[in-house]
Amino acid sequence: MKIQLAENYGFCFGVKRAIKIAEENINAATYGPLIHNSKEIARLDKDFKVGLVEDFTTFKSGEKAIVRTHGIVKDELASLHASGVEVIDATCPYVTKPQEIAQEMSEAGYDVIIFGDEKHPEIKGVKSYATHGAEVVTDIPDVKKLKLKERVALIAQTTRKVEDYMAIATYLIPRHKEVRVFNTICNATFENQEAVNKIATQADVMIIIGGKNSSNTKELYSISHDNCSNSHHIEDETELDFSWFEGREFCGISAGASTPDWIIQNVINAIQKSVN
Ligand code: F3S
Repeated sequence: MKIQLAENYGFCFGVKRAIKIAEENINAATYGPLIHNSKEIARLDKDFKVGLVEDFTTFKSGEKAIVRTHGIVKDELASLHASGVEVIDATCPYVTKPQEIAQEMSEAGYDVIIFGDEKHPEIKGVKSYATHGAEVVTDIPDVKKLKLKERVALIAQTTRKVEDYMAIATYLIPRHKEVRVFNTICNATFENQEAVNKIATQADVMIIIGGKNSSNTKELYSISHDNCSNSHHIEDETELDFSWFEGREFCGISAGASTPDWIIQNVINAIQKSVN
């Protein structure tokens, strides 16, 4: 039986980069969870002595602090630097960009609007860079409540749907003299979905690996199942049922955005062993 991974699966570029940075900085600690996967955080702690700190004020001079992929608030970053902490920035470059735009546009006199979730760490961070403040909106009714000047700059949270973002831009453009719309959406999540769609149409058994409560993994499973009825969502190799592979020729594999490569590899090894 042929076993093949989808063209895009699992961790996105930003998360892979952050994990590499953590592995290269033994004895450092991340400020807030580096990523949303407890098994991976435990592995970094066990194998690389990379701990987890929830309160940035507890870092002491000379200690190493890793800034998580979603970034942190500007004042907290400045305070870490000021207190002599060695700051290692693992903020995803796709998150750093909107931070820079927020600052630049705010300083240039634009009203900055951020389309996203106000409570999300990424948005708290991006907002903090707008020197003169920013408004966070989730839909057009939110935008309607704002008192905006003639010049407006629009930024989106990296994981937002482009169609929803365009609806807000379309609302703003005829109502203001100048609207600067920045495409800050990251395609990583959608790339995994497109890739699973493609491979599931060819495979006669599909394995989707990821947390049972991971919404992006469930979405991948649903897309897979639409194209291949012999699709299975598992968390790790212990949940495999080898009867799924009997008489099958092509096994496709995908994984959610928070599934580490080593779990995926364990699953592949177990399947290979069972069919040989
Ligand atoms: Fe990942 Fe960075 Fe995009 S963390 S989802 S590549 S914004």
